[in-house]
Amino acid sequence: MDEKLHAYLRELLEWTNAVETSFETADRTIGETEDWENWKEEIKDMMYKENPSHEEVQQLEQKGEIFHTRLEQNTSNESVAVGQHQLPPLPYAYNALEPYISEQIMRLHHDSHHQSYVNGLNKAEVNLYQSKPNTPLWKHWFREQAFHGSGHYLHTIFWFNMKPNGGGEPPKKTDIAKQITNDFGSFSAFKEIFRKGAESVEGVGWTMLVWSPRAGRLAIQTLEKHQDFSLGDTIPLLVLDVWEHAYYLQYNNDRKEYIKQWWNVINWEDVNNRFQTAKQVKWSLF
Ligand SMILES: [Fe+2]
Repeated sequence: MDEKLHAYLRELLEWTNAVETSFETADRTIGETEDWENWKEEIKDMMYKENPSHEEVQQLEQKGEIFHTRLEQNTSNESVAVGQHQLPPLPYAYNALEPYISEQIMRLHHDSHHQSYVNGLNKAEVNLYQSKPNTPLWKHWFREQAFHGSGHYLHTIFWFNMKPNGGGEPPKKTDIAKQITNDFGSFSAFKEIFRKGAESVEGVGWTMLVWSPRAGRLAIQTLEKHQDFSLGDTIPLLVLDVWEHAYYLQYNNDRKEYIKQWWNVINWEDVNNRFQTAKQVKWSLF
């Protein structure tokens, strides 16, 4: 078997273990366990095949995508208790986004950087909502909540916004494709503003495609760090991390190239799902 494919399957299997550990701790299930177990067996079987066909690999990936969607849409828990946020499992193997985003970056970015935002948010919440009153550090903890909380929530969107073999344009018949054309004139006009936004971020930050229930249309907004410049009362649909930790190990200081290559891993199905859910929020338009 091709060495690259073997490494990919091994990563995929490692990923299933990480998902299981994470979901056991969170007391959640990812759906029908039998399906999941079967899929794991199929990955293992494929690792021992001499020359699996392209179709077989594709079928395996398609099944993985179903779990990917279930992971984000898992709503079995009603709330996260104060200080109990957890790192969500990455919805694909660490090397799945190669060659556009390297395994090394994904491991550090997810396991280390995102974990530190989860820890920071939990600490801020405990200090704000559970510690004794009259703490003299209100401003500090609110600032910490904004930074780490936005970091945690945005990274969670970011992982699901991407997938292997993604990219291109959203299919024309999807709601998100129609809305992009309606609000920006064309997909290429949208892409240009989004790209300029990402390139314009000073230092570290994000660019986001958001749905504004108040305006009844889409907008693009940049963020500095995770929280400065935020556009209130909007719902992020597609986010791009342009912190150096997201690209430096692979692209050095060439942020423009990273932004260009990132379009190859967008998961438009996820963006469309988020849009359909966000559109259910109805505010008076002003
Ligand atoms: Fe990041």
